[in-house]
Amino acid sequence: MTEFISKIRTIEWVDTYSKMVDQTKFPDAFEYVKITTGQDMFDAIKTMIVRGAPAIGIAGAHGVVLYAQELAKQNLPHSEFIKQLLAKADYMASARPTAVNLMWAVEKQKELIRNSSSDIAVLIEDLKANGKKLELEDIEINKKIGDYGAEVVPKGATILTHCNAGALATVGYGTALGVVRSAFAKDNTVQVFADETRPRQQGARITTLELTMDGIPVTLITDGMCSYFMKKGMIDMVCVGADRIAANGDAANKIGTYTVAIAAKYHNIPFYVAAPLSTIDTSIKSGDEIIIEERSHDEVTHINGKPICANGVNIINPGFDVTPNELITGIITEKGILRPDYKKSIMEVFR
Ligand code: MRU
Repeated sequence: MTEFISKIRTIEWVDTYSKMVDQTKFPDAFEYVKITTGQDMFDAIKTMIVRGAPAIGIAGAHGVVLYAQELAKQNLPHSEFIKQLLAKADYMASARPTAVNLMWAVEKQKELIRNSSSDIAVLIEDLKANGKKLELEDIEINKKIGDYGAEVVPKGATILTHCNAGALATVGYGTALGVVRSAFAKDNTVQVFADETRPRQQGARITTLELTMDGIPVTLITDGMCSYFMKKGMIDMVCVGADRIAANGDAANKIGTYTVAIAAKYHNIPFYVAAPLSTIDTSIKSGDEIIIEERSHDEVTHINGKPICANGVNIINPGFDVTPNELITGIITEKGILRPDYKKSIMEVFR
């Protein structure tokens, strides 16, 4: 393994609460917050204190434990406790609709709840242990993704990325930025171009911060610049994350990813999606079935609380778009790089 050591730990269960980096504070501060109630966890996911598909999956799993701890104080009969906890788990899973990792991780907790014996204290310990297991597995999965991905990074490559699919979008190490970290460990002439990523600026606020913290060279560009640099021959590959991948390989990721993929195809630049298998939703045939989160209009009309457009102008703010599978060179997973025909390679990897 050629892994790079990254110290960033985005989210962690501690005794009775979830500890996470508050990503709304970047780049002004790198602070941890304690989330101690189920409703606070729902709000943390919704307001993007924690964000990135794998990280919100773990947050959802922690959120179920928080609800279990709260309900346990009510001394409910076991069947009523289970009924109410399952309903709370469903509520938690609805905090953000596009990232399938949230539903996936909450479902892992629901399996334990459904199969629980009559001892509520035992169930709570099992839910905590499961959350911890998912946390640790996430880091290991990302390192494997990183190592598989590093094999396709050309020597001295400039890798363009969009949004933040890094340590701060996962428990640690990252998916797309995990590929960067593993490639950089082998070849320290690798560098990153980071799209700013309007409207929430995850590229500017988060990707540049975490790469700088780890000493990996990064150049920030605005979203509209990617084709300019591609035409100049300054981008060797694109690597992005995903929030949900359909059974045919269509991949939902942060709004703007589709534009980058089209530009990469036009300029003959490999376009990779790096994601754990938990991001692949085999229950949907194509990207047309992916629910795209519509977010608050303030994200478009304001920057740092200041309006940037005419008052009352029409706004549409989809948080994600879907890149069609024919634009994707490969999907880098913990089980290797899936190649087209994705219907076949995805079916094969889940067999
Ligand atoms: O809205 P966000 O910041 O949660 O969106 C994050 C992304 O789009 C990431 O690229 C995706 O979740 C993959 S993270 C490994």
